[in-house]
Amino acid sequence: MYSPQSLLARQIPPLFLRRSLTDRLPPRMRDRADRWLEIVDLLLEIRDPRVLRAMAPAGLNGLVLRAGDRGAPTSVRATHPVRFDWAYSRDQPELARLYERGKLAQWNGATDLAWSTSVDPLDPEKPLIPRDFLDLAPLAKLGIRLDVAEKRRFDASLAAWMLSQFLHGEQGALFAAAQITESVPGFDAKLYGASQVVDEARHVEVFHRYMHTKLGKLYTINDNLHVVIESLTSDARWDMKFLGMQIMVEGLALGAFGTLYKNTREPLLKSLLRMVILDEARHVHYGIVGLRAHLAQLSDRERHEREEWACEVAMLMRNRFLAYEVFEEWFEGRVPRATWRQLVTDSAGMKDFRRTMFKRLVPNLRALGLIGPRVRSRYAEAGLMVFYEGGASSELGGAELVAELDAA
Ligand SMILES: [Fe+2]
Ligand SMILES: [Fe+2]
Repeated sequence: MYSPQSLLARQIPPLFLRRSLTDRLPPRMRDRADRWLEIVDLLLEIRDPRVLRAMAPAGLNGLVLRAGDRGAPTSVRATHPVRFDWAYSRDQPELARLYERGKLAQWNGATDLAWSTSVDPLDPEKPLIPRDFLDLAPLAKLGIRLDVAEKRRFDASLAAWMLSQFLHGEQGALFAAAQITESVPGFDAKLYGASQVVDEARHVEVFHRYMHTKLGKLYTINDNLHVVIESLTSDARWDMKFLGMQIMVEGLALGAFGTLYKNTREPLLKSLLRMVILDEARHVHYGIVGLRAHLAQLSDRERHEREEWACEVAMLMRNRFLAYEVFEEWFEGRVPRATWRQLVTDSAGMKDFRRTMFKRLVPNLRALGLIGPRVRSRYAEAGLMVFYEGGASSELGGAELVAELDAA
């Protein structure tokens, strides 16, 4: 029996043939064809039909209809049951402890950051990202060379794009945390979830304020990020929200924040990221504590579905944040979209980002028992098993992580 993907694959010419056909099209049509072929490639990558089914509606909205790209508000139908606990049983001591830590670690986004700092995104002494984060030298063979001032403006665009995605991701985390608070069983878990709602609101506040008052630029949400957020928001299963947001998206965010924290020379952004990282590490730990016992009592079939789902999402997230919005602004019509994709994928900044992201994510999935023999070979093929023996998040994860980043 064929899966939907294998049937689709039989109808589509091999990659090299498709690329040689599209290369003959005029630039705009070539790039449009490249976008559609990329969506097909993404579909073919998903091996588990259950994951494909679960993500299909969000994929249609995000990738085909490009719902987030219009900049207009979008609505997602939520279907999860809201679980009330009239016994108020306080029987999850680890989460109760985390809730106390969360309360003590609260900070005020309006007063705990030095908002009076003047920020010039083009200042060569305090660059938002390092000059070699994305090396544009390979574009010289297409006759494209940016002078020093243009490259500074380009780097500022790229940094604004990254921070825009952080802001959109934080909005997703805010609503996911609210949904988890409603749907998670156990009163300690609900209390902690509520403290995360406040954390995420603060993250939206500080990223938005930085974008609005210091950079003056906001990009629309990346299509793939929209797919992930919509699929989590609409999935009725609380543990899938938990796994998707607390482990996968928060893990991704920690990697991205850590990479930028390490690299930026702009002091206000650095201190903002430091504060956010300390909160986010607590959120990932909540995911591990909240899921560990639950996953252990699932049937093998249910656990395998989550194992496959986490693996698919990890693979999807690996190479999917490619700053096409920056490409459209700077190079559309002059550089093939496929060339840009290769450039970003191979860039020093993106490689560092992937390494920082999976260094924590893989051990966290291992700690949850979600890297079993069925998926281990796929992590190995993707070169991710090198992180398997690494340390999973702990209660002190945030402080450890910041110390590690400072030492790097
Ligand atoms: Fe956050
Ligand atoms: Fe978070």
